Amino acid sequence: MGNESRQVTVNRAGLSLMAGDITRQATDAIVNAANSGLMGGGGVDGAIHRAGGSAILEACRQIISRQGRLPPGEAVITTGGNLRAKYVIHTVGPIWHGGGPGEAEVLASAYRESLKLAATNRLTSVSFPSISTGVYGYPVDKAARIALEAVISFLNDEFTSVKEVVFVLFDSGTFDAYVSALAEIYGKKE
Ligand code: APR
Repeated sequence: MGNESRQVTVNRAGLSLMAGDITRQATDAIVNAANSGLMGGGGVDGAIHRAGGSAILEACRQIISRQGRLPPGEAVITTGGNLRAKYVIHTVGPIWHGGGPGEAEVLASAYRESLKLAATNRLTSVSFPSISTGVYGYPVDKAARIALEAVISFLNDEFTSVKEVVFVLFDSGTFDAYVSALAEIYGKKE
């Protein structure tokens, strides 16, 4: 993995990459890569609902009955239940269909809308998984670049309560892809 930077400062906020399990993070919120039904699933969604308990599912049910299905690229916030994080921000990434128009924009929007919601709720720290790169099939190299650029431009464009963003990456291939993408964005050679 070399000496690539895993931590940068953007407009006085920290952005870092780590390998690990997001359900164990103690940031104010963790972000869930959910689906539009918000009723749980596999991957990180299943892990968050298992670790956080039924209060999260109950809160999701109320959101769905109030506003209907959550469109891709949007985000909602619930309690963190039994998690160390106080809140879970649920967002829906795009399903990879070959990278046609709109897919990258929906992925960027999932990150941006999650951060907006964190800021609206005056949260300081947020952890993200790698949205869409599991079941939804988005190629991780492309997704890593989009994810990091979306977070960096949010932090640069808006001065909010959010001072710490952590990407918690579950497997070494995903972690390496984010390390490379961050190095590319900051113009460093591998
Ligand atoms: N912590 C961090 N990352 C995790 C964890 C965890 N505990 N468990 C899985 N991941 C990683 C996966 O390895 C992958 O890199 O999260 C990334 C996203 O994968 P998915 O969870 O499959 O999410 P996504 O591709 O966005 O697909 C969403 O999957 O589970 C269903 O209900 C969900 O239908 C939705 C779809």
